[in-house]
Amino acid sequence: MPRTIIVSNRLPTKVQRTDDGLTFQPSEGGLATGLGSIYRQEGNVWVGWPGLFLEDATEEQYITEALRGDSMAPVFLTESEILDYYEGFSNSTLWPTFHYFPQFATYEPAHWAAYVAVNEKFCQAVLAQAGPEDTIWVHDYQLMLLPAMLRAARPEATIGFFLHIPFPSYELLRVLPWRTELLLGLLGADLVGFHTFGYMRHFLSAVTHLLGHTTTNGLIETPTRTVLVDAFPMGIDYERFVKAAASEEAIQHEAVYRQALGTSRVVLSIDRLDYTKGIAQRLLAFEQLLMRYPEWVGQVSLIMVVVPSRDQVAQYASLKQEIDELVGRINAQYRTIGWNPIHYFYRSFPLEELASLYRLAEVALVTPVRDGMNLVAKEYIASKADGHGVLILSERAGAARELSDALLINPTDLVGHAEALHQALVMPEDEQAQRLDAMRALVKRYNVFSWTKLFMNQLTYSKMKQHTMA
Ligand code: UDP
Ligand code: G6P
Repeated sequence: MPRTIIVSNRLPTKVQRTDDGLTFQPSEGGLATGLGSIYRQEGNVWVGWPGLFLEDATEEQYITEALRGDSMAPVFLTESEILDYYEGFSNSTLWPTFHYFPQFATYEPAHWAAYVAVNEKFCQAVLAQAGPEDTIWVHDYQLMLLPAMLRAARPEATIGFFLHIPFPSYELLRVLPWRTELLLGLLGADLVGFHTFGYMRHFLSAVTHLLGHTTTNGLIETPTRTVLVDAFPMGIDYERFVKAAASEEAIQHEAVYRQALGTSRVVLSIDRLDYTKGIAQRLLAFEQLLMRYPEWVGQVSLIMVVVPSRDQVAQYASLKQEIDELVGRINAQYRTIGWNPIHYFYRSFPLEELASLYRLAEVALVTPVRDGMNLVAKEYIASKADGHGVLILSERAGAARELSDALLINPTDLVGHAEALHQALVMPEDEQAQRLDAMRALVKRYNVFSWTKLFMNQLTYSKMKQHTMA
């Protein structure tokens, strides 16, 4: 029976070294949480990095065996690969460029060389897992060369690629010295998927400009084969979040938080620490709210969860400092003995606690300056069974294309952002329910299972098209 081999840089389980030995925890990030619900089906395997570097061969064997039991095959990276491929090319070149932060991008030939070498390493790991009939599904910007490497090794293989971040306009992409190699890498796939039509259009335009291929209705004609390109907005495991929010544990946590917060209204923000997420702008907008509407002072609190991420990359470390200072300044200015404007957590939470925060929050502030999709927005909607709650969403998140019943804002417009917060806090209950119902129907229908099915159907269609055109 053919299986699907899922490949991504990070596995859905991260292994950490603690004083008590090795621990296995769920990874954060939309790719891991989103796909986490599907990969165990039908004997599938997930190939990826478990998040730590090895100290000895016994560790390698122990981790490999433990992960095998949960359908994962680890690819171990050395310290220098992490430095040059992960922190370097992936997160200091591609991530800033694709999120429209070219001023943060570096262009180091040594980082590129490591990127090529690690993609090759992943290629060998996938070939060791995949039989000739298996489908290979590669994910995200860390592995853009992998489809072409796999194609060279297995010309007949069925290979899909999905990009979880934005694909930038040609003007940004052309700045990269290795733009042609990256595009050729992706064209090794039979199907290349994006979250939105906008990203897909940028990709097609880059392929036309840089490679001169003709494209019709999302079908690219390369000299050897056709490659299909399409948009697939990723969904969440809707029922999992509905269940988590309705669980006894979530209800109990919520009650404890509620008691501690007294009568304060709650605004919630949850992200990985990342400059693309607009965290500093969000804090300034909350401060604006308190300045423009002093009646909210003492009445509303922001609960802000910031999950540590990529802290060895310079821009992430300085953003951490900026956030710490902003929170300190705003709290010092406004707090009273009985009320805290901002409750700031720099750590990750398990699903049940996240679910209780989603339950508790009357307003969710999801305001990235650039985001491929943003699953937190969808998780909040799924958790709001009682019909109360308002989502404020950045128009620059991929999710804004679908969730048009949210209060859409431009995150750089500080005043508009603060006004949306006020509007959310005074929104009548029937309007809240109306907006939530419309969005819930969407999030429920276009969940991660229908997303996978659609992608796989298009992959089959792409193969069929190649055979009829051959
Ligand atoms: N998340 C988590 N633990 C936390 C905070 C967040 O597992 O403490 C998850 C959250 O549920 C969501 C994911 O991290 O599924 C973030 O995905 P999103 O698409 O919003 O952003 P990304 O981090 O992928 O850029
Ligand atoms: C985003 C990326 C993923 C990545 C995740 C967490 O969702 O699209 O590929 O896994 O962030 O980032 P990290 O660098 O910790 O894997």
